[in-house]
Amino acid sequence: MCGIVGYVGKRKALPILLNSLKALEYRGYDSSGIAYIKDNKINIIKKEGKIKNLEKFLNVDEDTFIGIGHTRWATHGVPNETNAHPHRVGKITLVHNGIIENYEELRSKLKKDGYKFVSETDTEVVSAQVDSIYKKNNDMIKTLDEVKDILEGTYALGIICDDDPNNIYAIRKDSPLIIGKKDDEYFIASDVPAILTYTKDYYLLEKDEVAVLNNKVTFYLNNKEIEKELKSFEGDASSVSKCGYEHFMMKEMMEEPDVLHKTVEKMKQEKFSLKKYKSIDIIACGSAYHTGLVGKYLIENYADIKVDVHIASEYRYSKLFKKDKNLVIVISQSGETADTLAALKLAKDNNMDTLGIVNVKESSIARNADFVIYTEAGPEIAVATTKAYLSQVTTLSMLALKTALDKKLITKNKYDEVIKEFNVGALKIEKLLHYDYSKIANYIKDKNDLFYLGRGLDYALAMEGSLKLKEISYLHSEAYASGELKHGTISLIEEGTPVISVMVDNNIISKSISNNKEVKSRGGYVICITNSEIPKDSYDEVITVPNINDFVNPILALIPMQMISYYVAKARGCDIDKPKNLAKSVTVE
Ligand code: AGP
Repeated sequence: MCGIVGYVGKRKALPILLNSLKALEYRGYDSSGIAYIKDNKINIIKKEGKIKNLEKFLNVDEDTFIGIGHTRWATHGVPNETNAHPHRVGKITLVHNGIIENYEELRSKLKKDGYKFVSETDTEVVSAQVDSIYKKNNDMIKTLDEVKDILEGTYALGIICDDDPNNIYAIRKDSPLIIGKKDDEYFIASDVPAILTYTKDYYLLEKDEVAVLNNKVTFYLNNKEIEKELKSFEGDASSVSKCGYEHFMMKEMMEEPDVLHKTVEKMKQEKFSLKKYKSIDIIACGSAYHTGLVGKYLIENYADIKVDVHIASEYRYSKLFKKDKNLVIVISQSGETADTLAALKLAKDNNMDTLGIVNVKESSIARNADFVIYTEAGPEIAVATTKAYLSQVTTLSMLALKTALDKKLITKNKYDEVIKEFNVGALKIEKLLHYDYSKIANYIKDKNDLFYLGRGLDYALAMEGSLKLKEISYLHSEAYASGELKHGTISLIEEGTPVISVMVDNNIISKSISNNKEVKSRGGYVICITNSEIPKDSYDEVITVPNINDFVNPILALIPMQMISYYVAKARGCDIDKPKNLAKSVTVE
């Protein structure tokens, strides 16, 4: 949610800042801005809309070697030029990722001290607050140390002070921030992929730490200098480029066979077992929550452990019961989702064992959970998750399978057989990725509403299919439990209403067939995604997926759902990788 960048070094800063901002555009893209120093003076350029709008107003040849930049996902105030970052007050210019909860109270106090505000943002208040303390002590390190005790909420800040035109200051609380290093050039960024074109080496700024960047970097905690370890990113720049694909989403779907293979290989070696737990709570948001629903089905049925799945933002406000031998699993691609992180902290405060299933290495959730299993998806850039979702489902499937073996609920032969079948699954995904979805996408593209149906495991999958479609194509879609449709929603089925029925749970297919016929007889256009032979009068279109086993079948079913969403969004001319109003990493509550 919002992306921060900064550069100080020997090269011209504007092309670097722009390039890094573009790599962070997935974090927010309703407005953007850059502040840079030229001839010892600060220049600020901000524009509404995507970064390409800002680019038109920048002279990239400008002789500037230091600057900060920001791409915004609006929280306080509409997306416009005034509310865009950087925000400058007095001698302080800064960019911010996060939310300041006590900004109204601070703003009132600062107004009494004579500060005037032009924007509706919490960030402008931070600039004024930093300026007011700096005026008093003329020392930025001391100032930032004081500011951290005043600001409530979440933040990562990149700051330039008029009195130090050769320095960038950075400080963070809960929002992520890294400091990149390439010889004597330094970068700040909300995540590592933003600077991968320039360097793989970075420092991870921790809570309350301050960094000062010039031709070296110095770190402070509580006003005292500290040493930090330089880390190196494992991936490479190609993992954050489209590699010739029109969209990241398509590139990332094409990587799914490989991601499945890597995840299974990694999980074969994983030592963590669910064996000692009597019950499990899975907590997550959005697609990661849907992953949990698939995991529940497999863990309950194969590892014989009771699982409850919670939406993170709801879990935090529900009554917590003491459970004996209970494990809390939090699932997150970004590892920074504010609601999931808060739920994790709550579980830890209540002395529960916690396991994080996370894609981004060293993210806040990964660092806070007692145990971590990293998913093997690699960097995921498209806002709509595809390969990370697949890797999460596979991780949970493998946990269920391995626990079943540990508890002797399945034989070693069965275990080996399923592992082999995962590899068969990877080949089958390849085929499903190249299926011709155009007829179905063309049928759906001009409709106003769509329903996804499923029962049991298929309902969990339908929820993900429906979310994927609406988030990138803006077509209204709802997922319904097949059996529940007749209790109200069936009144919305009209002549031609598209209904996608997911039917890969072999135990309950016959019931779903009857529900499809009910829809068809009311004029609905039924598109089935199934691995079984179904009667011709129960559908209008069918996508047949292979029937392998309960662990692999859910993974195969999700490919057509992702691909249909992609092609419908494309046919509707949507911005597939950056759907409106969304952001990849949701670091606000
Ligand atoms: C997925 O396509 C969505 N963009 C969204 O629901 C996402 O899964 C959710 O915000 C959780 O994100 P996380 O996995 O990074 O925690």
